[in-house]
Amino acid sequence: LRAELLAAVSDAPDADALEKVRVAVMGKKGRITDMMKGLGQMDPDERRTFGAALNALKDDVATALDGRKAAFETAALNARLESERVDVSLTARPDSDGTLHPISQTIDEVIAIFGQMGFELAEGPDIEDDFHNFTALNFPPGHPAREMHDTFFLPEREDGSRHVLRTHTSPVQIRTMQSRKPPIRVICLGRTYRCDSDMTHTPMFHQIEGLVIDTNINMGHLKGCLKEFVEAYFEVSDVPMQFRPSFFPFTEPSAEVDIGCSRKNGELKIGEGDGWLEILGCGMVHPNVLKACGYDPNEVQGFAFGMGLERIAMLKYGIPDLRTFFDSDLRWLRHYGFGC
Ligand code: PHE
Repeated sequence: LRAELLAAVSDAPDADALEKVRVAVMGKKGRITDMMKGLGQMDPDERRTFGAALNALKDDVATALDGRKAAFETAALNARLESERVDVSLTARPDSDGTLHPISQTIDEVIAIFGQMGFELAEGPDIEDDFHNFTALNFPPGHPAREMHDTFFLPEREDGSRHVLRTHTSPVQIRTMQSRKPPIRVICLGRTYRCDSDMTHTPMFHQIEGLVIDTNINMGHLKGCLKEFVEAYFEVSDVPMQFRPSFFPFTEPSAEVDIGCSRKNGELKIGEGDGWLEILGCGMVHPNVLKACGYDPNEVQGFAFGMGLERIAMLKYGIPDLRTFFDSDLRWLRHYGFGC
């Protein structure tokens, strides 16, 4: 019987079958249990020997059952460990962290550079009235210079006024002068709009405006300030610069600024060579503009400048086509974007 029971235990193919064996042998109506019950009918001598043998058998079977059960449990655990194993040698999936758009990156850089020179940030609305965008900047109504800006006009309001999408950031000069007193040293970076679209123009673009107002400000200050900015931004020293006479209604004298560059094998190098590249417009704030803001031109003077943000970003990072800034092409953004 011992051999038969032990064989039943060791032959059980899985944990369920083993449990059935246990019930059949040791359960309430199991074979050993039945025999235990039969002890009561035996005479004392017989009961002693048979009982001892039966107990030994019961212990042996129980040990065998426990051993087999533990073996099944170990096997099940191993199988689970195997099936749920993490393959640490698997290459990681490509992550998709975002990048900083070159416009945002350039804004940060420009703010940092002018911040070090003591400039504060100024802001104004994208939707401007005629006074701030034109009239106060010495574009009288009907003045032909207004035609220089391909303006987006908004529908006429009830009071007959017509607002515009600001065509430049210069209206922020007016808002700043109206809201604070000299000395003023501010820059403004923001969106501007012109009804124009081709290789080098997009209907929306960004400008950087600078304004300094104080007593005894002259063009030397303007030149020094722009030179410091250009050298810091393009990371070059002693960059050649030329101030070409130009015209803006709100500055007198006005100039456009070119910086020295070279082009070798199609590669542009800023700060060397005998070529010139236009990067911004500037000048001394026109007395009429100071007057429109309630200032006395005999007491304070100042300079202002404006430049295209996309333009200086294209020059610094070698971005060939302006329109790609606003295409939201993920491949372009990954290529020109900056890690966060
Ligand atoms: N607002 C001018 C433009 O958009 C640039 C400029 C700004 C020129 C300040 C002179 C001074 O073309």
